Amino acid sequence: MVNLTINGQQRSFDGDTSMPLMWFLRDELGLTGTKFGCGASLCGACTVHVNGEAVRSCGLPMSDVGGKTVVTIEGLDAKGEHPVQVAWRNLGVPQCGYCQSGQIMQAAALLKATPAPTDKEITDTMAGNICRCGCYQRIHQAIRAAAKGA
Ligand code: FES
Ligand code: FES
Repeated sequence: MVNLTINGQQRSFDGDTSMPLMWFLRDELGLTGTKFGCGASLCGACTVHVNGEAVRSCGLPMSDVGGKTVVTIEGLDAKGEHPVQVAWRNLGVPQCGYCQSGQIMQAAALLKATPAPTDKEITDTMAGNICRCGCYQRIHQAIRAAAKGA
């Protein structure tokens, strides 16, 4: 049995603990804001926070999350008013939207650890989050705006 906290709620899992966290979130809890992209920890679409750090949930087995605290895009802010989400809306960042929850979770973790990141820190941190629509400039601008409290 794996016990963990997800978006502030206690959850239990008693299945195959080699299953990635992503499938528990999506298929068993219905938290479909976490997206399945590559399934190989290469694109960032499935990014969530585990104990405050951005991780790829597609590559994280349930056996590794016992006792941990997970936050998904649904739990980032109860009203969708996290500074990163506000900046995303103000700048109209998304195109198709598929990568965006992963981008936002990655950016939120960056700003929590580094409230005033340099351009290089933003670029380096976000390099593993792929956007097939090419929204990279707006993503970068929105992170800068969120860092300034916009
Ligand atoms: S789906 Fe997890 S990194 Fe691509
Ligand atoms: S907005 Fe379409 S993949 Fe990023």
